[in-house]
Amino acid sequence: MPAPAGTRGRPAALTARTRTAMVAVAALSVLVVFAVFYAAWTFYTIAVRRTELAQQVQVIATGVSTANGLPGSAADASGLRGRLLKVEAGLIGAQLVMTDETGRVVFSTTDTTTTVQETFPVTRMAPQVGTPVTTVETLPAYGRLLLVAARLPARTGAAYLLAAQPLREINQASLPAVYLFMVSALVALVAAWFAGGWLARRIAGPIVRLRGAAEAVTAGDWGHQVPVEGEEEVAALATSFNAMSTRVADAYNAQKDFVGDVSHELRTPITSIQGFAGALTDDTVTGEEERTRFLGVIRDEAGRLADLTSTLLALADLDAGSTRPASAPVSSSALAEALRSRYTPLAAAAGVELDVAELTGTPAGDEARLLQAVSTIVDNALAYTPAGGRVRVSADGAAPAGFWRLLVDDSGGGIPPEKREEVFRRFARLDPSRSTRAGGSGLGLAICRRLVEVMGGRVWAEDGDLGGARFVVELPSWREHG
Ligand SMILES: Nc1ncnc2c1ncn2[C@@H]1O[C@H](COP(=O)(O)OP(=O)(O)OP(=O)(O)O)[C@@H](O)[C@H]1O
Ligand SMILES: [Mg+2]
Repeated sequence: MPAPAGTRGRPAALTARTRTAMVAVAALSVLVVFAVFYAAWTFYTIAVRRTELAQQVQVIATGVSTANGLPGSAADASGLRGRLLKVEAGLIGAQLVMTDETGRVVFSTTDTTTTVQETFPVTRMAPQVGTPVTTVETLPAYGRLLLVAARLPARTGAAYLLAAQPLREINQASLPAVYLFMVSALVALVAAWFAGGWLARRIAGPIVRLRGAAEAVTAGDWGHQVPVEGEEEVAALATSFNAMSTRVADAYNAQKDFVGDVSHELRTPITSIQGFAGALTDDTVTGEEERTRFLGVIRDEAGRLADLTSTLLALADLDAGSTRPASAPVSSSALAEALRSRYTPLAAAAGVELDVAELTGTPAGDEARLLQAVSTIVDNALAYTPAGGRVRVSADGAAPAGFWRLLVDDSGGGIPPEKREEVFRRFARLDPSRSTRAGGSGLGLAICRRLVEVMGGRVWAEDGDLGGARFVVELPSWREHG
């Protein structure tokens, strides 16, 4: 059956959702990894730069103290001192500043016109001679700044030598890493996009096929099967679907067979009624005696139809579960008595010896239903046992704990092992010639089984010890049951 256009095989909504989820997860992961990496990287570079700058500043400070004189002072008339510091500043890649005791700038390697920062927090840093102090500060003229301060000996004319480098310059080193990150993020997002599509197809593919199969079943392709594939859960779903589909097909076929069987069973008496009624109305019947016989046949066939109809209705009731028998203790001795009084005359008429033993035990069920079920079996035993044979009804002393069992044995022809389940099917009849009584509908045992099943029991056929068939009815015992 064709699926609505654009939906089969293309799980659009699922693909979109899976892709969004994958891309979101990828973006978040890349972001977290980068944030951690970037923080670590920055922390590490600053730490390395801090140590390096401290050593460099210490070396330069030693030079300043031994050279005697401030850049630009009388002692440095040539300006050599200042030029030298500028070269040194260029070499270490930071700005060099000299301040007085309060931190006011007395010399700076950058152009004085651009140096807006007039004081540095040297008193707070308080370096000792020979041990520079480093800090990261935020100063108005620079922003975040790595600052190294070294104490100069008094004779230099200045109190402190400072090296200053904005953090932004140090972080510049991580720029390539940022670009690399952006490229890898892009790659990750594209990969997530495609992986999302692939994953959605992988998950939804079998589901889409399942939906197609469900539609096929709905359209009447009973028993349609799907390949069991995909992830564990999806494969399990496919297995369940196949089982369900098979079950639906079985139920449908059973129903079809049943309707066929019913029509077949009804056709025989109806044809017979039609034939005899036709003969009566055609005036082909002349004698009054023949007329009465024909009317008798019509009455009998109508009676068969009525019986069959009520039997089928009873079966339908049982199937629908509308007949819920009460679960109560059933007196097995009363059951034995009922069987005796019902079947002794019939057995005598058939020339069969009927032996209903004293029954013991108390099954849980419904007395009338149990009698009906057992009657069907005894009925059969008498019907399928030739004259001179024997039928015995007894309780099974060896029943498993918690169960009550009744045995019906006969000395008839028995039922071949491969037919022992079949006889419980509706309209199932073995070789009709074996029956000593014509006209069985083949519904007796089907009803018997349904009756026993709704009482929570089981019924089956097996080898008997009288040479014929044995039927076993098993019900829960009342003691254990209650
Ligand atoms: N005790 C038995 N010995 C041999 N065959 C049996 C015995 N009981 C049942 N069968 C076989 O099982 C078939 C089904 O039995 P079931 O009682 O369901 O139908 P039926 O007796 O043919 O018709 P009815 O619906 O009138 O009872 C019978 O036709 C018969 O061939
Ligand atoms: Mg029968």
